[in-house]
Amino acid sequence: MTNSVPFEHITVLREELLDSLGLTQGDYAVDCTAGGGGHTQGLLERVGPTGKVIAIDRDPWAQSVLKARFAQELESGNLELIAAPFSQIAAELCQRNLAGKVQGLCADIGVSSPQLDAAERGFSFAKDGPLDMRMDQTQGVTAADIVNEWSVPDLTRLFRDYGEDPQARRIAQAIERERARKPFERTLDLADLVASSVHYKERSRRHPATRVFQALRIEVNGELRELEALLKNVGPTIKLGGRCAIISFHSLEDRLIKVAFRALAEGHVKHIDKRLPITAVEIDKLKKFTIIKPFPRIPGDIELEQNPRSRSAKLRVIEKKGD
Ligand SMILES: C[S@@+](CC[C@H](N)C(=O)[O-])C[C@H]1O[C@@H](n2cnc3c(N)ncnc32)[C@H](O)[C@@H]1O
Repeated sequence: MTNSVPFEHITVLREELLDSLGLTQGDYAVDCTAGGGGHTQGLLERVGPTGKVIAIDRDPWAQSVLKARFAQELESGNLELIAAPFSQIAAELCQRNLAGKVQGLCADIGVSSPQLDAAERGFSFAKDGPLDMRMDQTQGVTAADIVNEWSVPDLTRLFRDYGEDPQARRIAQAIERERARKPFERTLDLADLVASSVHYKERSRRHPATRVFQALRIEVNGELRELEALLKNVGPTIKLGGRCAIISFHSLEDRLIKVAFRALAEGHVKHIDKRLPITAVEIDKLKKFTIIKPFPRIPGDIELEQNPRSRSAKLRVIEKKGD
């Protein structure tokens, strides 16, 4: 279990997200990215003792923190924890006969502060650790596997598509030369190699490896595929009048959310997961969505001052219209 840093995460856009879901006592709510439980706590307060919250997180460290924090709520049955990727939400809710009954579905996409801050998780270009980056370290390929095994064209595409790095090819070529000498194992080895192989403005506030680390993290955890799967499940998951609120932290994610929400509002059925056991009538109802605000909510000055990591957060909300 990871424990080189305490599990400390400041919840982003807490009240804005909770207020947007329109929850009342007795409702069902789902937190797809429970993390340290900041939003989960708010959901529990709003649905009250007669309601129920399902909290999902794929990280075993977050799971153990959540179990300790919410021992009472787990005992009483007001909260249920699921250790799984949130792409499986529909199957999990169907098993519990909750598909189509959820008033509030939320997600706060990405990694938590403790995941970033714990050197041994390998997410940080500023801290020496194994080049890992898996949210769930019990499975999947690591960032080191990708850096050491992918071809130059594949790495170039990865850094360009997921990192939006204009020097993607130059970095991929430098990686190929370096790994022939010695395979990459540590975060700082990769961060230093990237820094020495690219042209960047000395005064830039960004570390030159920021984009490469973002791209690797997205690939290792299938982050965009996970988000796409979640977006396809919004319709069948929430009830009429229910809402879905998603916070994202970079433009690739925000674009996916914006496009999917618009498609749902315009009634494009391809944005609904058709593997779900829903009838044609229900599919028709799923077409009726309203985007709650055309522009995303962002943190205000006070939140930005208290939590600079919230600076790129964007909250979008959609509602499934009632009859
Ligand atoms: C930004 S943190 C959430 C913090 C939380 N809202 C809070 O206030 O404490 C994101 C969490 O989502 C989890 N996560 C990210 N992608 C996931 C996925 N596809 N499936 C399940 N959990 C995921 C991460 O492990 C992390 O704990």
